[in-house]
Amino acid sequence: MTRGLATIRHQAAIIVRDHRWLPGLVTLAFFVATVLLLILRADWWWEATLLAPSLIAAFAWGYIARAMRAEKFPPLSHLRRRQYSETWNALAGSLAESFAAVAGQRDEASLRRSSLPTVRNLLEMALITQHDDVLEIGCGIARIGRELAPYCRTWTGADISSSMLTHAADRLRESFNVRLVCLKGVGLSEFPEQSFDVVYLTNMLMHLDEMDRWAYVAEAFRVLRPAGRILFDNVDIESDAGWSMFANDAKRYQVWERPPYMPRYSTAAELMAYAKRAGFEEVSVHRRPPVAIVIARKNGARKSNPAFAAEVEGREAGTSVLRQ
Ligand SMILES: C[S@@+](CC[C@H](N)C(=O)[O-])C[C@H]1O[C@@H](n2cnc3c(N)ncnc32)[C@H](O)[C@@H]1O
Repeated sequence: MTRGLATIRHQAAIIVRDHRWLPGLVTLAFFVATVLLLILRADWWWEATLLAPSLIAAFAWGYIARAMRAEKFPPLSHLRRRQYSETWNALAGSLAESFAAVAGQRDEASLRRSSLPTVRNLLEMALITQHDDVLEIGCGIARIGRELAPYCRTWTGADISSSMLTHAADRLRESFNVRLVCLKGVGLSEFPEQSFDVVYLTNMLMHLDEMDRWAYVAEAFRVLRPAGRILFDNVDIESDAGWSMFANDAKRYQVWERPPYMPRYSTAAELMAYAKRAGFEEVSVHRRPPVAIVIARKNGARKSNPAFAAEVEGREAGTSVLRQ
């Protein structure tokens, strides 16, 4: 019985979401019918019978309109999870929308503040120095890159969404040791092997299918130089904070259709398995609730390949999006 009701609510929610005009139209139809009956001086019993559903429809309309306004992001229910570029381009239509999509922030100052714990983790755990060429996969609007670039030799931001990268280019116009690369699909075919000293993915794996998570960790291994480091994180479903985020989503999305960008969390064991299977050594996990952060190292002695670093020497500030 409860299950049947939940299914009806679920179907109704999908219909209303796809036809947002429907509650208003139903309310209007009831009111027009009631007014017509009044004009035609119909039996009072008919008027009363129609007035009650009109009031209920008006109440439901108001309730639905409020619920839709409270929704932060478009449902994008016509897209599947792996349609990454379509999904993230839709979420990054304007700069303000992209602020909300990458970190739930409203303005530049709070966006910059929100990046600080991750920048600190990268400096302390991945031991980034002025000698390192660094790659972020899924860089968004360079929330982290803009703050991290002064601490490394070069910073490259790669993302599958051209809209995110357009906003990133705008935010990076004062930086000179940065570049942005638009990825053609899942993978890093745009970069030759052994191009970077550090690769990181933050606040990003939760939006990916598990096999695509693995694909990026394996690709990171390929593009890292010997002795290169990787850092990646996801919300840890085993932590209390991570579980409560999961449980809230599970409750809310019993009724609403699950959107393609909906976060899916990890266990530390899953993340460590990717690093180990990709061939990394010294794999360790740091639990910073709600996230688990994995750090690992590629075997070998440090070797430098300064192609992009040489280009950076004497370069003007600013960057544009490279589409290779
Ligand atoms: C929540 S945002 C985080 C951005 C950035 N890492 C940060 O913390 O500010 C997730 C980013 O991952 C990107 N993304 C989603 N799927 C991707 C994929 N398959 N390959 C590369 N980037 C992807 C999105 O375009 C978006 O910019």
